Amino acid sequence: MSLLKKRSVVNLLKSRRSIRIFKPINVPDEIVKLLVEVGERAPIPTHLQLYSFIWVKSQEKREELSEICGGEIVKNASIVLLVCGDLKRASMMLDLLEHRHVLSSDKHPVETVMSIFEAALAVDSIIIAAESLGLGSVILDCPLIYAPSIARLFNLPRGIIPLVLLCIGVRGESPPIRPRLPLEIILHEDSYREPSEDELKAYLAKLEKHMEIENYVKKYTGKDLKYLDYLKMRTELNKEVEKDYDALIKYLRENFFKI
Ligand SMILES: Cc1cc2nc3c(=O)[nH]c(=O)nc-3n(C[C@H](O)[C@H](O)[C@H](O)COP(=O)(O)O)c2cc1C
Repeated sequence: MSLLKKRSVVNLLKSRRSIRIFKPINVPDEIVKLLVEVGERAPIPTHLQLYSFIWVKSQEKREELSEICGGEIVKNASIVLLVCGDLKRASMMLDLLEHRHVLSSDKHPVETVMSIFEAALAVDSIIIAAESLGLGSVILDCPLIYAPSIARLFNLPRGIIPLVLLCIGVRGESPPIRPRLPLEIILHEDSYREPSEDELKAYLAKLEKHMEIENYVKKYTGKDLKYLDYLKMRTELNKEVEKDYDALIKYLRENFFKI
């Protein structure tokens, strides 16, 4: 059979999009365990698995979490997983081998970056598995932004960093497929090719047009802003952001995540 005829997973991936409106429907605990088990099958550089998931299970924790971040999405999703980088457990395991190991030092850039990479691979497997079961999902980045509050809420010890929330559930919306950069910009053949300003402008224009047709900013944020203005707002460097980022860098360093 030709490769292109075996397209079922490819079709699933090509039609995946983030879902931010969920029907408040419970799924059995077995589904959650199955999805996380599938996530664990993702490749890992060593068998230390530098990540942990906190299953936000009780109504009480969900309410508390939704106050800090995630709002209605966290309230209505069938499954909410707090995805964490976890260097603590790995360090404990390596201690057991009684040698001078990289996590006993103050410098472990590879492990720090890999913990985020490993967690992302596991998350992606879970997303794909959830899609195959007919469930939608979205990732929320707010746990990192509110790391100290999230760490308090879930009793995260030093060495465990909250990265993102993975929210999975029954779709309450059917949004269109969102734009991506053209292949010729992200797929480089043999050496890196810097894109021209015109190529980038064309993509930004396409993005703006799509988001306007989707009514994206108004629908999800309630703001009357064009998408590129929203993007500027989200990425603006100002005094407040500088202060927050300094605090986050300090928090990451204190928590053993060192680059
Ligand atoms: C690391 C990460 C963080 C994200 N954080 C948020 C978020 O905080 N809020 C949100 O609504 N979507 C979030 N998303 C979803 C993206 O906005 C979404 O993937 C992107 O707009 C592309 O849309 P699509 O997934 O529908 O193709 C996040 C996605 C990733 C990978």
